[in-house]
Amino acid sequence: MMRTTALRALPRGTVARQLSTSAASQFAQPSESTATPAAGTKPPQIKEFKIYRWNPDTPSEKPKLQSYKVDLNQCGPMMLDALIKNEMDPTLTFRRSCREGICGSCAMNIDGVNTLACLCRIDKDTSKPGKVYPLPHMYVVKDLVPDLTLFYKQYKSIQPWLKHDNPPKTEILQSQHDRKKLDGMYECILCACCSTSCPSYWWNQDQYLGPAVLMQAYRWIADSRDQATEERKEKLQNNMSLYRCHTILNCTRTCPKGLRPGSAIAFMKLEMATGKKASHGITEVA
Ligand code: SF4
Ligand code: SF4
Ligand code: FES
Repeated sequence: MMRTTALRALPRGTVARQLSTSAASQFAQPSESTATPAAGTKPPQIKEFKIYRWNPDTPSEKPKLQSYKVDLNQCGPMMLDALIKNEMDPTLTFRRSCREGICGSCAMNIDGVNTLACLCRIDKDTSKPGKVYPLPHMYVVKDLVPDLTLFYKQYKSIQPWLKHDNPPKTEILQSQHDRKKLDGMYECILCACCSTSCPSYWWNQDQYLGPAVLMQAYRWIADSRDQATEERKEKLQNNMSLYRCHTILNCTRTCPKGLRPGSAIAFMKLEMATGKKASHGITEVA
């Protein structure tokens, strides 16, 4: 009889963006998966996943795709469930924490699209393998874990906090109209799916800030409470930081949270060219 396996619960209070390796398993072995199912149980639905592997401890070995087989009837519906299900191999390394599209840790390239593994449904078509790679054009720490050091450094460079010359002791009020201008930007979880889908970022990430960081730069420029607008714009007035965006819009197409970093960049360019603040937010245009 086929063994049933409950999904392994994630530890509570897990530190965000931790590295994860799958733990030892009770997952049904392939030989068991092909056994005749007992009456009333579903037959196994085996799907192959080809997953990028690279281990820094054996640098002479080239990166490779490793094949894993998962019974979809014994697995949750999302790609992250399948990765956790690969408990047969405790060395497979990937990031995850919240499992609900909030922490941004599990960003990876699944079947050619940058997305969050916890929000990406498994393609039930078992005739073709699912392919999983780390986010493209980034250095790899191990397996599916990209090195985000530069990405965070760039985020820090835009000083993502409210700047005020003489901060009052009480909260700084904002009209509903001005607050609405932050919609579509404050929700960003900094998963880096957009930046790593941007050709300009691929080739110039040492100087071009990329869509995720630029949208956050505009989030502070658009904030009516912030008093460093001119200083923020001045920092972007060079050939590389902002103007390497050529409005290709890969960023907006791939964002797993449905945000539009390409529009934020276009708004910011317009404000910088005209010297006028936009009268509405990015969610208010078609
Ligand atoms: S804009 Fe979207 S894709 Fe880009 S970092 Fe934010 S949530 Fe991720
Ligand atoms: S719109 Fe700009 S930021 Fe977005 S993918 Fe294109 S070049 Fe990159
Ligand atoms: S695990 Fe947090 S966004 Fe996927």
